[in-house]
Amino acid sequence: MRRLFAIIAVFFGLGLAPVLAAEGGGEIEKRDWSFEGVFGHFDKAALQRGFQVYREICASCHGLDYIAFRNLSALGYSQAEIKAIAAEYEVTDGPDDAGDMFQRPAIPADRFPAPFANENAARAANGGAYPPDLSLIVKARPDGANYLYSLLVGYDDPPADLQMPDGMYYSRVYSGNQIAMPQPLFGDDVVFALGGDTSMEALAADVTAFLAWTAEPELESRKRIGIAVMLFLVVMCFVSYGSMRYIWADVEK
Ligand code: HEC
Repeated sequence: MRRLFAIIAVFFGLGLAPVLAAEGGGEIEKRDWSFEGVFGHFDKAALQRGFQVYREICASCHGLDYIAFRNLSALGYSQAEIKAIAAEYEVTDGPDDAGDMFQRPAIPADRFPAPFANENAARAANGGAYPPDLSLIVKARPDGANYLYSLLVGYDDPPADLQMPDGMYYSRVYSGNQIAMPQPLFGDDVVFALGGDTSMEALAADVTAFLAWTAEPELESRKRIGIAVMLFLVVMCFVSYGSMRYIWADVEK
């Protein structure tokens, strides 16, 4: 039986190997993230830095549809700061009394406005490729945080024998090794008001943390509740064992 399994495994392995080799990409670097594990939590300073990277670099192509400005309070911003951040954006509102849509400065209750009017406009500006909304991207890709980080730092010159089509860039990570997103981070792309590492790796890690938060803002409370529930169950375990002993104490064996 075991031999049969071995034969099947080799058969499938051989069948799959050339497919995997032909696909390319997938060189994912594993990192330790503060938000992983049972006691996972977000580092607010990193989230604020990552938000700045998103705003100054990624936002020109990628939307953040599911996040409203008021959600930024979780990053440690005060109400006044959130109002000021929102006011820097314009959103479409309406219709007004004449039936026309109009532009107005955003308020904390608004969501981040999308960089393009619609998908066709986004594709037209990006050589036919669609920059996906980033709100949920960390959940939408397997091993999301490591994948995103690796994608951002995974650009390279193409091997000499590979002819890259126009508007495509070589990536060690993206499946097929060709991605339509030009390398977004090079290091020193932003200036942090409070200082901090602005190497390409540090910026990629910060924006990854920020996008892990947008994908699951309730992560910290979920983990806290999980720990509380486990503690409760452990205590209840002892209580039920004690009461079982107590109830059955008088029954002869
Ligand atoms: C100049 C426009 C542009 C900028 C700036 C940009 N991107 Fe992209 N991005 C794209 C395009 C276009 C695609 C689609 C790529 C494709 O389909 O080959 C993409 C795809 C992606 C993907 C999806 C990859 C996948 O697995 O499908 C992620 C994640 C991403 N970008 C993250 C970012 C982050 C984070 C930043 C900021 C640090 C950023 N991008 C900046 C244009 C951009």
